[in-house]
Amino acid sequence: MRSESKPSPSAQERPALAAERAKHSEELAKVHIGPLWEIYRKVLTRKPARREVPHLWPWSLVRPHLVRAGELITAAEAERRALMLLNPATPSGFGATATLYAAAQLILPGESARAHRHSPAALRFVIEGEGAFTCVDGDKIVMSPGDLILTPSMVWHDHGNEGANPVMWLDGLDIPLMDSLRYMFLQEFETTSQQPQKPPRYSERLYGRALFPAGMGPGCSGVASPVWAYRSQEAQDALECLRRTSEPDPFDAYMLRYANPANGRDTFPTMGCRLQLIPNGAHTSAHRHTASTVYHVAEGNGFSVLDGVRFDWRKGDTFAVPIWCWHEHAAGGTDAVLFSFTDFPVMMQLGLMRKETFADNGGFQPVNG
Ligand SMILES: [Fe+2]
Ligand SMILES: [Fe+2]
Repeated sequence: MRSESKPSPSAQERPALAAERAKHSEELAKVHIGPLWEIYRKVLTRKPARREVPHLWPWSLVRPHLVRAGELITAAEAERRALMLLNPATPSGFGATATLYAAAQLILPGESARAHRHSPAALRFVIEGEGAFTCVDGDKIVMSPGDLILTPSMVWHDHGNEGANPVMWLDGLDIPLMDSLRYMFLQEFETTSQQPQKPPRYSERLYGRALFPAGMGPGCSGVASPVWAYRSQEAQDALECLRRTSEPDPFDAYMLRYANPANGRDTFPTMGCRLQLIPNGAHTSAHRHTASTVYHVAEGNGFSVLDGVRFDWRKGDTFAVPIWCWHEHAAGGTDAVLFSFTDFPVMMQLGLMRKETFADNGGFQPVNG
């Protein structure tokens, strides 16, 4: 007959074994080796154990600090006078989410921010002020509120303000993702500013219509959009056409995707941009997904419920929706327009996109705070 084997005593039952294991771990640490069993459950979690939290930065808070920064440091000294919107759960990081950096930038009349290029891709969504420009690879692009300007990875760019008033915009970059890949390159241009070398609005006029150079076949533009400016008025017009001709999406109401016209994909392989209209009184259903997003309120008022917490927002506010965070949006008083940028293209290209619909309570989250 087989005798029943006794289970071996656990480390808790044998203090001497526990001490030996601890000593072994210390010895391993000295030679840069680690026992997997000590971290296994911390790393391989059953759902995303994100470090970031949903958060909103009100423009009424950010703007005065940005104006104050304009008194304290010049654009030349700062190189970029930008206030980073840091996720409160990871304040030492760069990001509003795990992959997306967001900042508010100010350029005063007469100032210029020197020309450089870097591996992170960047987008600007203009919040207020006229007369500023971004020169992208010799294409001088004058910016107005609501315009989206792109500066792809390793493309020269500098900013200037030739107007009479301060100009402020939201910066969006993929810096946290690039940092996690350790893929960081920065190069300064030989002079402070580029001399415009191309016809004004070159990228919009050549690539931003249903016309392309004949030698450029589908997908020949490289990975980023060859169009570097998407104008507010055109985007708003398209959004209104969408509203008049389609039913609202249950989770996003009426949403446009800023597309790369050469291949139909997103603006960058690392960041996609969206513009969505939430009609007055509409309230979208809640869902969550593995793409994280930074939203900016371009027009109107409303609120979003993010993981059960209500965040009221108004024009100029910015808020972060991290990975796997339940979210729903509502507009009140007027129609609301939300601009957003997202790591959706990363998740799609890597086959990592997962979604879930909030099934209970009619699709709306109970609000806990
Ligand atoms: Fe830059
Ligand atoms: Fe969503």
